[in-house]
Amino acid sequence: MLATIFLQSTNFIDAAYIVAFSLLIYGMTGLTGPRTAVRGNKIAAAGMAIAVIATLLRQGEFHGSGTVWLIILGVVIGTAIGVPAALNVRMTAMPQMVALFNGVGGGAVALIAWVEYRHHFGGDYPLRSEIFELFGAIVGSVSFWGSNIAFGKLQEILPGRPIKLPGQAIINALLFLVCVVSAIVLAAGTHSEALFILGILVASAILGNMVVLPIGGADMPVVISLLNAFTGLSAAATGVALSNPVMIVAGMIVGASGTILTNLMAKAMNRSVPAIVAGGFGGAVAAPAGPAGEAGGTIRSTSAQDVAIQLSYARQVVIAPGYGMAVAQAQHAVRELEKALEKKGVTVKFAIHPVAGRMPGHMNVLLAEADVPYDLLREMDEINPEFPRTDVTLVIGANDVTNPAAKNEPGSPIYGMPILEVNESGSVIVLKRSMASGFAGIDNPLFYDPKTAMLFGDAKQSVSDITSEVQAL
Ligand code: TAP
Repeated sequence: MLATIFLQSTNFIDAAYIVAFSLLIYGMTGLTGPRTAVRGNKIAAAGMAIAVIATLLRQGEFHGSGTVWLIILGVVIGTAIGVPAALNVRMTAMPQMVALFNGVGGGAVALIAWVEYRHHFGGDYPLRSEIFELFGAIVGSVSFWGSNIAFGKLQEILPGRPIKLPGQAIINALLFLVCVVSAIVLAAGTHSEALFILGILVASAILGNMVVLPIGGADMPVVISLLNAFTGLSAAATGVALSNPVMIVAGMIVGASGTILTNLMAKAMNRSVPAIVAGGFGGAVAAPAGPAGEAGGTIRSTSAQDVAIQLSYARQVVIAPGYGMAVAQAQHAVRELEKALEKKGVTVKFAIHPVAGRMPGHMNVLLAEADVPYDLLREMDEINPEFPRTDVTLVIGANDVTNPAAKNEPGSPIYGMPILEVNESGSVIVLKRSMASGFAGIDNPLFYDPKTAMLFGDAKQSVSDITSEVQAL
């Protein structure tokens, strides 16, 4: 009895919340490097478990044990779906997974707002709480529906190309207006609360769909990150309404980190976030993938043996990995090639583009998994000045992030996106399976450059073949 009173006392629950968000913040500091990331993740997960337990105790204190069982049921269902999904997801499908999990967070916030309103129908609801709750409902709902569309596009359930309606900007503005006016009417006090809260949820749901449908091509990662920030902000706002410190702290962490990441990615793609938001998202409309040789010019194909000779006699080789390395799971083979070349006295460096692959840090994670020393990795700004003094650049399954059209062709959908300037090096060898385009769906003039040679095939097999040839020399 005494133990129960103690466990449900406000002081104990507050202390548990402080421990929980301290662990969340401490765990996040581990995510700054690949070696500490797994430990950091586990620490943050322990923090979240403590937060859930504290919420159960708090719930028991305020509402009796009935609602506690509902929360436990929710945790069991969530665990049964989330754990297998996270264990089985392919690394290359991680962005869709992030979009889905993020959307669920926003949806949960919108549902909490709905439930809170049902509790307070006809009664007194402090204006301060109401304003935060309404903000959470609108932003959470936009994030839920927008994230679902992003998931559908990345999973190829929906067409990846931008889908625009005539007068899209006006429709979006009207939907936003419906949300804001309904919120003001609710805050001012009305007898038709159910109608207006439903109006908010429906209008913001349509707005979420409308905002993400016109996005295509290279802007998608920026938008997922932005929606992530929205979910964080909506959770923090709801935390204020419910006086729940963990929701406020965790929500603000997600909101702030999502905003920083959005800015970094937008900068890496030479897009400004306000322009993306104001411009209806995704001014970059990717052209359909061109057939082989559409850009004109001649393609020179090469063999693993020739590549091995070129690499072995080079002073400096730069490896530029991309999405294809992830698909082929070639990172371990790449590590073997790097070691073989270093044995021959060749200096090897890795060029990391901020949006290579399909998620932030994708290449860093893969290369760390294969034990490639971190000091061999160079960020784009650091490696670009080195290309003119690089003998050979080996492009492994990268396409858009090396496309010179981003610099030279003002009409290109990716014009303005900073690239790895691999075409500045002495010679370039591109490893890919065909002449197919990359994520942005556009042709790459690099492949027709006289100093480029193509080695066609699966990246893992091609890299292993080159390594065997290097070792045999
Ligand atoms: P992409 O431009 O997508 O090109 C990848 C290339 O890999 C393809 O052209 C493909 O050609 C090749 N490939 C696929 N499987 C392969 C395999 N098994 N072996 C060898 N090659 C293979 O990749 P990128 O250069 O890394 O650029 C990333 C793109 O994704 C950017 O447009 C970026 O905006 C976008 N994006 C990035 C993120 C983040 S945050 N990183 C998230 C979403 C989207 P073949 O089919 O001919 O082999």
